[in-house]
Amino acid sequence: MEVLLAKTAGFCFGVKRAVDTVYEQIRKQEGKIYTFGPIIHNEQVVQDLEEKGVTVISSAEELETLTAGTVIIRSHGVPKRIYEIIERRGLRCVDATCPFVKRIHRIVEQESAVGKQILIIGNAGHPEVEGIMGWSHTPAKVVETREEIADLTFDRSKSVCIVSQTTFNYNKFQELVEIFAEKGYDISVVNTICNATEERQTEAREIAAKVDAMMVIGGRHSSNTRKLYEICSGVCANTYFVQALDDLHLDLPASVRLVGITAGASTPNKIIEEVQRNVRINF
Ligand code: F3S
Repeated sequence: MEVLLAKTAGFCFGVKRAVDTVYEQIRKQEGKIYTFGPIIHNEQVVQDLEEKGVTVISSAEELETLTAGTVIIRSHGVPKRIYEIIERRGLRCVDATCPFVKRIHRIVEQESAVGKQILIIGNAGHPEVEGIMGWSHTPAKVVETREEIADLTFDRSKSVCIVSQTTFNYNKFQELVEIFAEKGYDISVVNTICNATEERQTEAREIAAKVDAMMVIGGRHSSNTRKLYEICSGVCANTYFVQALDDLHLDLPASVRLVGITAGASTPNKIIEEVQRNVRINF
């Protein structure tokens, strides 16, 4: 069987960098290692790290109880106060915040320092957004929907700086900015969307349109993997959701000659390679 593997399948640059950072720290063996939150939403990876002695810290309170060790900040980033706790507790900090997220932290910190009000377009409950909020000198506001932005008010005597969560949809971001612009505030807009997600989706759609069957690898609970599956199913009727190698006991139609493969953002390379090898050999 011939295989067409998406170049953008699996980890984005920021997540790959963060996961590699943890393994690098394990190799260095410089004492106990903690990650602030799971480094990635993939159980196998988190479990493998646990077996290698890495502990996941899930709150600032937990961090306050530590007395020694290395704390790794994941790609989503964290509020400024987390760095302060790490320093105060005398812990070592290894910062794997994605540079695209770090850029937002810097913008928010600088703009709020000169008196601007901060508006973040994104999901208020998402750790990345919580992290961004934690760099503003003034209370930042977060909106995600048309209704929310329509109801939003700020102090008219000061400007508003608008940024976005990195994974927010660009068209929706523009639409929300347009609604807000009509309110007549003095605004500055910084498009801080990262296009890794969009590139992965575009490539998946292109490949699915060319192949006889398409495999989308990732966890059932991963929303970005489900989205990839949805996109691919729209252009290729033989699209399969593959969580693990066991799912490969498929009966592919006899006419299938070329199989496309893509994977969600939290799918490790090892699984992608295994699936690829299996498809080539066993079909
Ligand atoms: Fe990934 Fe960084 Fe973009 S974590 S999705 S490359 S902002």
